[in-house]
Amino acid sequence: MNNLLLEIGIEEEMLTSLETQGFFLKENFVNDQTAKDLRSLMDLKYEEDAFNQAGVGKGQNFQINEKIRSDSILWLERKPENPVLKAYSEYIDSIIPLLARYFFLVLKDKELMFAIYDEGNFYTKHRDRFESNQHRWFTVILYLTDWAEGDGGELKLYTDDVEHIIKPKAGNFLIFNSELEHEVLVAHKRRYSITGWITDIPIGLGFLD
Ligand code: OGA
Ligand code: NI
Repeated sequence: MNNLLLEIGIEEEMLTSLETQGFFLKENFVNDQTAKDLRSLMDLKYEEDAFNQAGVGKGQNFQINEKIRSDSILWLERKPENPVLKAYSEYIDSIIPLLARYFFLVLKDKELMFAIYDEGNFYTKHRDRFESNQHRWFTVILYLTDWAEGDGGELKLYTDDVEHIIKPKAGNFLIFNSELEHEVLVAHKRRYSITGWITDIPIGLGFLD
């Protein structure tokens, strides 16, 4: 797969891990150079003012609330031209039927966005399903930050009273059940990710939200 250091055969582990603990983390899903290139691309778009302040809620309920979250986002095109983004987008497409079959779900589509948390940004405890969008079933994140201990921006994921701390380290790929509560701790330096959701409706049909 183009530029992606994808280990073949993680899918089975992913499915069982999702079933037993609600999430699956794969380190080194992409290599450092790929992550660096994606960070440069995101910086470029950010400087071009292509990002928007992220909000909470959908449609008429959409609102910006910096007490809840303060990151900035940019939705990816459906068919990205950039070869790495294209490969990643196609990879997510390829796991949709696996997830649907394994969990007996109807899953139709995905939506992917760039997310940047600047220094001081965070996202308080929330669920991606129900609260922001009832059509989201799985959250998929490709972390891209050149991260070291002390840089903040960890993801705190709550499963059955256990808190898991996920480092937003470049190359880490995470998928979790969108019903799980989670929060992004304050970032102490710019934090980069491609965050997305696997949904039970085709994306773009806003009137169904
Ligand atoms: C979100 C979210 C987590 C992360 O965008 O809904 O919770 O680690 N992101 O970026
Ligand atoms: Ni979330």
